[in-house]
Amino acid sequence: MLTAVTGINWGDEGKGRVIDLLAEHADVVARYQGGNNAGHTVIHGDKKLALHLIPSGIMYEKAVPVIGNGVVVNPQVLVEEMRMLEGEGLSCDRLKISCDAHVIMPYHIELDKASEFRLGKNEIGTTNRGIGPCYQDKAARSGIRIQDLLDEHVFRMKVEAALEVKNAILEKVYGKRTFTVDEICEAYLPFAEIIRPHMAETAQLLNDALREGKHILFEGAQGTLLDLDMGTYPYVTSSHPVAGGCCIGSGVGPTAINEIMGIFKSYTTRVGEGPFPTELFDETGDYIRNAGGEFGTVTGRPRRTGWFDAVVARYAVRVNGLTDVVINKIDPLRGLPKLKVCVAYKLKNGETVTEFPANFMDLVDCEPVYEEFDGFDEDITNCRSFEELPATVQSYIKELERIIECPITMLGVGPARDQVMTIK
Ligand code: IMP
Repeated sequence: MLTAVTGINWGDEGKGRVIDLLAEHADVVARYQGGNNAGHTVIHGDKKLALHLIPSGIMYEKAVPVIGNGVVVNPQVLVEEMRMLEGEGLSCDRLKISCDAHVIMPYHIELDKASEFRLGKNEIGTTNRGIGPCYQDKAARSGIRIQDLLDEHVFRMKVEAALEVKNAILEKVYGKRTFTVDEICEAYLPFAEIIRPHMAETAQLLNDALREGKHILFEGAQGTLLDLDMGTYPYVTSSHPVAGGCCIGSGVGPTAINEIMGIFKSYTTRVGEGPFPTELFDETGDYIRNAGGEFGTVTGRPRRTGWFDAVVARYAVRVNGLTDVVINKIDPLRGLPKLKVCVAYKLKNGETVTEFPANFMDLVDCEPVYEEFDGFDEDITNCRSFEELPATVQSYIKELERIIECPITMLGVGPARDQVMTIK
């Protein structure tokens, strides 16, 4: 059995809590893309722990957490996260890391920052974690992988070759500091010994697990609109958050996937730059941002906020092949007199479209066309079944389901682990 969980908008849809709930019953929990640009909080006892790289499966003794080949790994962040978890009494012994995963190097981080600075007001708004430059090297076939890090001689040779080019770019293009082979080896090689026992052929491990009838959960990071191909390019991340990405980033074939859950919020948020048709610049936007606590877990940035966009949602249902939809964070909408859902875009040329436009400029210039629904004033955070919800909320969910053309099977009504309901 294989379940993939993917974000639908620009990340931060509350994937973490759904993954956490499902991880409790999974045998393997695997990440397939992204790196420590992701971030979600898990609850351990009375503490909140922030995970950026290690899959949520680490919280459950039965689950094997896997970092797949499609992930980019900053070894320092990985080791710090392992130490933090072990300090909390959570063993990382079961953690498996693909020998093919690429390593984020110190120069990737510098290049990320320098490139953003150079772009000025056209910046992507990256997390400055070196994600893009690391994937660039992977695509250019000059990247350094986990298996290279574990062989001192190979690692040194590869760093030397990389620095010939990277130092020239850092110095001559960006006027930034350069790196020496020794300083990188000194900083990174000690991590190798900590990572070595965890290195594995994870594609083999995952396929064996499937053959044995185990339940694998794929944990997507970021979201569909941040996908390198399917997202709002160039304002995207450099990996493939869409469900299809889990095959490439893990070595499991597409026919193995049984269930694809898309995670939405009842409104939309975005961090970083790029088009966002339903963005709100008024007090309703501030109201939703504050009520939903929409501030980044990685960077603390206030998130841009807007109404639910069903044009995006239908697009996401299609490009991910979703079998189920989860709607998180309905509770922050409490107190708003009307709830709006964008059902079409009015383009600059006067045409109204109901499908996600292929042309980037159409997305930049369009105006959202809304359907309006009655709001609710009741506290819904204690509701645990669909029937307990006020009639206005029930009908809002049914309308959303009709508009996005995919079954909504789970609702989040508050941040706590149990503030969630399944809908049959
Ligand atoms: P990068 O992934 O750091 O290269 O950033 C590229 C874009 O993706 C920027 O707009 C980031 O704000 C966005 N991004 C990356 N990771 C996340 C995430 O986990 N949640 C929301 N946005 C993200």
